[in-house]
Amino acid sequence: MKRVFLVALLWIPLLCFTYSASAETFTCLACHSAMKGKIRTEEGVLIDVNVDGEKYSQSVHGGFDCIACHKQFGSNPHEPARITNVPQGIASLASKLTHKAKVDPVALAACSECHGDIYKSWQQSIHGSNVIQKKQSDGASCVDCHGSPHYITPKNTATSHINKKNIVKTCGECHENEGLARKYGFSTHILERYYESFHGKKYVIGHPNAPTCVDCHKYHDIKKWEDPMSPVAWDNRTETCGRCHKGATKKFVTAITHKPYGKDNPVPYYFEKGMIVLLLSVFAFIVGHVILDAISEIRDKVLRKGKEGHHE
Ligand code: HEC
Ligand code: HEC
Ligand code: HEC
Ligand code: HEC
Ligand code: HEC
Ligand code: HEC
Ligand code: HEC
Repeated sequence: MKRVFLVALLWIPLLCFTYSASAETFTCLACHSAMKGKIRTEEGVLIDVNVDGEKYSQSVHGGFDCIACHKQFGSNPHEPARITNVPQGIASLASKLTHKAKVDPVALAACSECHGDIYKSWQQSIHGSNVIQKKQSDGASCVDCHGSPHYITPKNTATSHINKKNIVKTCGECHENEGLARKYGFSTHILERYYESFHGKKYVIGHPNAPTCVDCHKYHDIKKWEDPMSPVAWDNRTETCGRCHKGATKKFVTAITHKPYGKDNPVPYYFEKGMIVLLLSVFAFIVGHVILDAISEIRDKVLRKGKEGHHE
């Protein structure tokens, strides 16, 4: 595979629209790092065709040629013809991702070439099966969680979307979305409820052991919570919570739920209902008392007035 000498190319002063036949020798970034603005694809999706060469070179994939992923763009520049020597496995995976990709399903499938095991677990996860089996585009793909494929940085850096400081927000992009919650039947306001939990409070102040979403759910192979393979299925919960809470019992593990008050979350539900009944009865008692008091006062005054009248 030919390597792109990114750094050397950065200074080449080049207007990409003035290229001629000699453009064959130019690399992708010669144009793509000089392009400004967004373009609309045939499907009407807005994409940013600019790739920041310096940020790219500092990313975990910065040493790779663009065509390591954009395998269809082998001819350089890519107009007029795109070559089609995409490996069979990747081509067939790409054909299942066309509805999820914005412009290049092959690039989205190409991750599997170097991250094969991760890709397999993702395909079997609730997110992957949403895309591949259900043919929806709502489930999280690699780049939904890791951010732009051009700028992925190691997990321990602040810019990583999966850094502990950012991961809750990354999951929240979708799990806070009420439309999606309704469509797939998961709880609304999961983040709000997380932040008000013991765990969320410790997370915000930077407790090193405070669990985030992925400590309880894992990440590439996330399952529906009732699925026996899910770490938060009832049978696995004592083990999952027990990693941090030694000797967690069946009773202890009921302490965490994202569900808002409702029939599925009966304790707080009936507690809240009880409080409402109590408040209403206290209120009724006070109001009743005031009214009765007022009536007796008026009656007293009227009677007294009547009596006083007699006296005069
Ligand atoms: C001579 C300039 C030029 C070069 C070199 C070039 N591109 Fe592009 N590229 C463009 C332009 C202009 C667009 C937007 C319009 C279009 O699609 O043609 C674009 C769009 C794209 C898109 C968005 C999808 C699409 O089809 O619109 C991808 C992906 C892409 N280029 C990848 C590459 C890769 C990978 C290389 C190197 C192998 C490369 N480009 C080399 C000019 C260039
Ligand atoms: C690690 C894999 C990978 C590498 C390496 C890579 N890309 Fe991409 N690129 C992708 C993926 C995945 C997409 C999104 C595809 C989609 O949703 O259709 C993408 C999208 C694009 C787009 C469309 C606009 C956008 O941001 O969605 C352009 C333009 C582009 N890449 C150019 C490049 C250029 C130029 C290089 C080399 C400097 C490069 N890519 C290297 C994976 C890669
Ligand atoms: C040509 C091989 C190759 C392809 C294709 C590829 N990667 Fe990578 N990826 C690597 C290598 C090598 C590393 C390790 C880099 C390092 O450790 O510095 C890596 C590291 C990563 C990391 C780890 C970041 C961290 O936290 O350390 C993520 C996430 C990642 N790749 C995602 C993707 C995604 C998403 C795609 C597809 C869009 C993709 N990769 C395509 C080779 C590849
Ligand atoms: C639901 C979100 C999510 C999706 C989807 C996802 N990842 Fe990850 N990925 C993570 C998280 C979180 C971590 C880091 C976990 C940790 O803290 O160690 C990670 C770590 C990684 C790593 C570093 C090695 C490792 O296993 O820790 C690589 C490489 C990677 N992902 C590639 C991919 C690829 C390729 C895809 C698409 C098939 C993908 N990821 C899809 C969330 C996701
Ligand atoms: C302390 C462990 C723990 C943490 C942290 C956690 N979850 Fe959960 N999650 C659970 C348990 C247990 C369930 C089982 C269903 C329930 O009681 O809500 C669940 C269920 C879910 C469900 C499906 C059921 C529902 O209520 O909608 C989703 C979606 C979910 N979690 C997303 C998240 C996200 C996003 C985060 C991060 C903000 C997160 N979880 C953090 C333990 C956790
Ligand atoms: C791009 C949007 C998106 C992102 C980002 C995302 N999810 Fe999801 N997630 C979904 C959708 C959509 C579903 C439902 C899929 C289905 O049922 O077909 C889902 C399902 C789930 C479920 C199963 C819900 C259930 O009913 O039991 C859990 C747990 C979950 N996600 C956790 C996470 C965690 C943890 C993260 C971050 C590491 C994350 N998700 C990131 C979109 C997303
Ligand atoms: C990654 C570690 C981790 C995991 C996994 C975890 N917790 Fe916690 N949990 C904590 C930390 C840290 C605190 C704050 C404790 C403190 O400061 O004393 C905490 C506090 C709590 C508290 C508050 C009362 C107390 O004992 O301090 C409850 C209740 C709780 N967790 C329940 C759960 C349940 C139920 C699960 C499994 C669904 C779970 N936790 C999973 C780390 C974890």
